[in-house]
Amino acid sequence: MPQFIQERPGDAALIEPLLDECFGPDRFKKTAYKIRENIVPQPELSYVAVEEGRLLATIRYWPITIGGTTPALLLGPIAVSPKLQGKGIGVGLIRETLRVAQDLGHRIIVLVGDPEYYGQFGFENAAVLGFKLPGPVEEKRFLVKECVPGALKGVTGMLAGAPLIPLPPGRVATQAETTRLTEQLAALSPPADT
Ligand SMILES: CC(C)(COP(=O)(O)OP(=O)(O)OC[C@H]1O[C@@H](n2cnc3c(N)ncnc32)[C@H](O)[C@@H]1OP(=O)(O)O)[C@@H](O)C(=O)NCCC(=O)NCCS
Repeated sequence: MPQFIQERPGDAALIEPLLDECFGPDRFKKTAYKIRENIVPQPELSYVAVEEGRLLATIRYWPITIGGTTPALLLGPIAVSPKLQGKGIGVGLIRETLRVAQDLGHRIIVLVGDPEYYGQFGFENAAVLGFKLPGPVEEKRFLVKECVPGALKGVTGMLAGAPLIPLPPGRVATQAETTRLTEQLAALSPPADT
């Protein structure tokens, strides 16, 4: 039975080949990757599925704004090792991390993915709300979930990457979260003019 745990320092080296395997080398051309340029995922919401020491799946959430002001999370990528797909790992990982995100007070989660799959978690079409992405996307795959009733009221506009959303008062970053954050910040490319 896989366990769903926070990503550990060093897991990134296993996650990149898994993402290559699941999405292919063209994954960096996707519009969602454009939003993720020069930002880092929320360390407390980066999770993996592991069994007997093996990493089976990954999920990450990125800080964004909608319409320049409303904070939200961008879910993705999620990937399950191809030989283990269809065994409930994806559903388990999404349910567990949505629970953690809601416990931390996050209000809106956006993603690009199959509505037939994400509908079960409460995701609905985002394009009809006037949400926009900085690149092409199939409108029916642009989805949003309201974690708090009313959170989407009046929210519309372009999605953009943002600085990390702070942890709620009283929740201090763990040593492992800080280590991963430091690794990820170090991996960001320097600005072009330096
Ligand atoms: C999509 C993915 C994360 C789902 O995880 P998983 O562990 O394989 O899926 P689960 O076992 O939790 O769920 C399986 C159920 O979801 C359905 N499902 C899986 N992928 C689906 C999709 N893209 N669209 C619709 N339904 C899907 C399956 O048919 C199955 O339904 P059933 O239980 O009625 O038989 C995984 O297949 C994966 O990594 N795929 C490649 C990468 C990818 O496409 N990531 C998502 C990008 S948005």
